[in-house]
Amino acid sequence: MKKLVEIKDVLEFYRMLGFERLPIELKDFNKTDKIKRPVSNEITSIKNCRSKEKALIELRKELGDCKRCKLSQKRLNIVFGEGNPEAKLMFIGEAPGREEDEQGRPFVGEAGMVLTRLIEKMGFKRTDVYIANIVKCRPPMNRDPEPDEIELCKGFLEKQIEIINPKVIMSLGRISAMTLSGINKLKITAIRGKFFYFKDIPVMPTFHPAYLMRNPKDKWLTWNDAQKVLDKLAEK
Ligand code: URA
Repeated sequence: MKKLVEIKDVLEFYRMLGFERLPIELKDFNKTDKIKRPVSNEITSIKNCRSKEKALIELRKELGDCKRCKLSQKRLNIVFGEGNPEAKLMFIGEAPGREEDEQGRPFVGEAGMVLTRLIEKMGFKRTDVYIANIVKCRPPMNRDPEPDEIELCKGFLEKQIEIINPKVIMSLGRISAMTLSGINKLKITAIRGKFFYFKDIPVMPTFHPAYLMRNPKDKWLTWNDAQKVLDKLAEK
């Protein structure tokens, strides 16, 4: 209570001086933000890389033993992403689960088997495509990643996309579609099956494989979405 009174006094003082708004930006309160945030320009080393593979290796080095957000406290391994650096198709999930955390590889658990089957049904091998997640560390109890965790991590995914420069992205589940589209609070049932764009790259939002495990009757919808992706890949 005493603190509130003090703040009120300070605000009154500023008003007397003629200020209608505080002469600061809210982000200044989070002084560590600038240090922790992976602003893309900070990741400079990749610019000099001759191959996409080298650029991804440099980016992985840049990520290091990341402690940028609280997910680092409980994770076993960072799940950077894997696949073909020259991939034309990229799959982006939400966050690593238990098996992924243990192995340091994306989509290797039960949901991963569903994704692998989809990839193969589309005529590819896992090694043809690139698979990554919105956040690179497992949220405790597999909860949704929180906005601050996504904010601190997504710069690395953005760089991965920039390096790989796929022709099409398939986003898996609500969190992935929300993050890539920048639209909060969307319903995956409302947006799935319709392309949106992430920096000129078409993104096909579809259901998360874990959802399909719980709702196998909706698998045909994801297969419809996959066919639109195949059509897009076939375009000149
Ligand atoms: N679910 C995800 O979203 N990503 C994984 O890597 C595994 C499960």
